[in-house]
Amino acid sequence: MRTMTVGVLGGGTVGQNVLRLIERRKSVFDDLGVQIEVAGVLVRDVHKARDLPAGTRVTGTCDFLQECGVVIEALGGIEAPLELLRPYLKSGRPVITANKALLAERWDELRPYALGGKLYYEASVMAGTPVIGPMSTVLRASTFTRLQAVLNGTCNFVLTQMEAGRDYASALAEAQALGYAEDPPTLDVGGFDTAHKLAVLARFCADGAFPYEAIEIEGIEGVTLADVQAAQAAGERIKLVAELSREGEGWRARVAPQRLPDTHPLCTAGASRNALVYEGEECGPLIFAGGGAGGLVTASAMVGDLLDLLIGFPGHVPLH
Ligand code: NDP
Ligand code: HSE
Repeated sequence: MRTMTVGVLGGGTVGQNVLRLIERRKSVFDDLGVQIEVAGVLVRDVHKARDLPAGTRVTGTCDFLQECGVVIEALGGIEAPLELLRPYLKSGRPVITANKALLAERWDELRPYALGGKLYYEASVMAGTPVIGPMSTVLRASTFTRLQAVLNGTCNFVLTQMEAGRDYASALAEAQALGYAEDPPTLDVGGFDTAHKLAVLARFCADGAFPYEAIEIEGIEGVTLADVQAAQAAGERIKLVAELSREGEGWRARVAPQRLPDTHPLCTAGASRNALVYEGEECGPLIFAGGGAGGLVTASAMVGDLLDLLIGFPGHVPLH
């Protein structure tokens, strides 16, 4: 049995579920001949009550990073995780992250590590619904033409609740309580989180250096109950849609609320589910749908990434 020492940055919604899932799936690690040893969990407030396996070392300093064979980043933000990960990545070791803001906005620095197979980030888009895996592997053989997706669980939840007559503010408060929302939730409702995810996806199907800044962004803050109800009356629904398609020699990427027919795959996927329609010349249209936010569904992708690493698969390699 070999030992893999894991460091976890963040012990919030995602971090706690990752640690619980590693504990729950111990037999899968045993089958691989690997014993997982958690060196520490970095948090801000070490006194906060948390649901963690007994004996987990919770700390406000990351002195444990040097002894880790892999770091799982579930901190959020951009500069704080980057400062912590920079020396670690430079030492050639792998990182598993759910942090689409970091990937989207600091890609110039992170891209070489991703090209080297050192970054695993299935959880960063659609959480536990695998899209980055297929896009970074089999779908490369097909000529990508267009994608259309609902990528933010918080906005989806808020808009669905508004369809039932609920007001925007209380629906958003519940999405926060469910652990779906970013800190701050403006990242969700302003469309920025969806744009972060679209940037990550674009680097697998359009351009490996696709800039986050190229995405046109409009959120759902301006959508009223009257708008939602007018759409419903016409057999349509309002969704915050991410789109990437050809425009001339380049690509157009945008995030905006759209009215879609009830029968559209982005609507039929289900009220609280993310969905993505991928169009490639050779593979034809594909539909991915599933949970896209929440602690456990996100942890399932991160622990899946850890298993991939242990099996010997590289991380998610973008277009060269
Ligand atoms: P939370 O706010 O629940 O947890 C963040 C954790 O990081 C907390 O434990 C917090 O400490 C700790 N933390 C934050 N900043 C610092 C810092 N500067 N120093 C030390 N500790 C810090 O966030 P989530 O778990 O929801 O999200 C984590 C990441 O996962 C984000 O990048 C998010 O975008 C991503 N993600 C989240 C999903 C979800 O559904 N929640 C789904 C997919 C991705 P403390 O607890 O003491 O405050
Ligand atoms: N805040 C994000 C959402 C979490 O609501 O979709 C998952 O990335």
